[in-house]
Amino acid sequence: MVIWNRRNFLRAAGAVSAAAALPGIPLLPAQEPDAAKPVAANDHIQIALIGAGGQGMGDTATAIQVPGVKLVAVADCYDGRLARSKELWGNDLFTTRDYNEILSRTDIDAVIVATPDHWHKQAAVDAMKAGKDVYCEKPMIHLYADGPVMIETSRQTRRILQIGSQRVSNIIYGKAKELLAAGVIGQLNMVTAYWDRNSSIGAWNYTVPPDASTETCDWPRFLGTAPKIPFSAEHFFQWRKWKAYGSGVAGDLFVHLFSGTHFITGSHGPTRALATGALRYWKDGRDADDVVLGLFDYREGFNLSLHVNFVDGGQESESLVFTGSEGTMEIGWDGLTLTRVPRETAPGYTVYTFPEAMQKEIIAAYNAKYPPHSGTESLAATEKYVPPKGYSDSYDHLKNFFASVRSRQPVVEDAVFGYRAAGAALLSNLSIARGQVVRWDPDEMKLL
Ligand SMILES: NC(=O)c1ccc[n+]([C@@H]2O[C@H](COP(=O)([O-])OP(=O)(O)OC[C@H]3O[C@@H](n4cnc5c(N)ncnc54)[C@H](O)[C@@H]3O)[C@@H](O)[C@H]2O)c1
Repeated sequence: MVIWNRRNFLRAAGAVSAAAALPGIPLLPAQEPDAAKPVAANDHIQIALIGAGGQGMGDTATAIQVPGVKLVAVADCYDGRLARSKELWGNDLFTTRDYNEILSRTDIDAVIVATPDHWHKQAAVDAMKAGKDVYCEKPMIHLYADGPVMIETSRQTRRILQIGSQRVSNIIYGKAKELLAAGVIGQLNMVTAYWDRNSSIGAWNYTVPPDASTETCDWPRFLGTAPKIPFSAEHFFQWRKWKAYGSGVAGDLFVHLFSGTHFITGSHGPTRALATGALRYWKDGRDADDVVLGLFDYREGFNLSLHVNFVDGGQESESLVFTGSEGTMEIGWDGLTLTRVPRETAPGYTVYTFPEAMQKEIIAAYNAKYPPHSGTESLAATEKYVPPKGYSDSYDHLKNFFASVRSRQPVVEDAVFGYRAAGAALLSNLSIARGQVVRWDPDEMKLL
């Protein structure tokens, strides 16, 4: 007889799906209906958070809305964030500066890794080796060498590793994927994406707390393998501005546009990249560019152009446009706009530089052959797809992760997908540094 405890429950294939309707989070049409079997109180997936900053706290708040998920511990290098975690999740929460104290606990099944990028590989690998499943924030890697190690560790340890690019679970992206596969916009020729910001926060100038010091911040632990420098509160709290901890626009924003593009097209990634970029405006000591433009070739037959700037004169805006031979799909913050533009069957004519009699002759012959259409009026028809009110793709992404933790079935965004998206994004930095085109084998995930 099988005694159902939390551990074998988690490992049993086909165990209940993690999600159910929650107040404020509608049941989502694009998701499979949740299994009817309720999650018993003692069947919780117990999780811990490693890196309790903005995204870590957001991910965790969302994760614990998934039925059957319980937070038991938090690790962070700043005491203020450990204190805030207890305020949010109770004094019983185990908190520590050293994530190894979390990994050695046998009552933790999975961890969320939401540290700065330069810790992703090590924290995820240490967690998997300690037997934990891992939800690791994007970008999966900081350096190219991180990718194979993370993929291999996930394979060897047979731990679930999901990367946190939530668009991969977004129902709007799912719709776009379906429309593209159905040929609704014809042959895909081009993808254009941008993410422009004008605010100081958009340019990563996050608040430094007034008590920031070597007393409250575990500076050596934060640095990890980064170059040893004296304590800097700006480096600690605004780490995205320095390449020692992040990869600038490429890892922060391009990677979302790549994961969206790869998910919708099914492509493994670009083969060539050419990028240009510079620090134009935020000359505050950072070394990461605030304007980056990249061009990428895909052997599936389309080209991708991306740009991000932090000096835009307008509101923060983002768009991802798929241009096909018979229409476009644009994904913005308000949903998906599909514009169908059927190919014209008539070639049109240019006759007005010819003698008048000849013009008349050509036009008469044309009208006899083709239906009346000047070629200038629009044939376009537009449809709009919007997510349900209050929709959260982060919830869906975490729900999908926990479903895999229970079922041991593949995740929606595994380490190979994560490496292909982040590896493609980092080509931009490489191209800017080298001042030349860089080549990448997206199947083998290797720089050429
Ligand atoms: N999926 C998304 O949409 C999304 C959005 C924002 C951020 N992110 C990603 O999430 C990650 C975190 O970003 P953030 O904005 O929350 O940064 P943050 O600076 O707010 O938080 C990072 C936290 O990690 C802690 N930390 C650093 N080293 C640590 C270590 N060795 N052990 C434990 N904790 C450590 C820091 O003290 C800090 O509190 C980044 O990789 C970022 O790219 C993803």
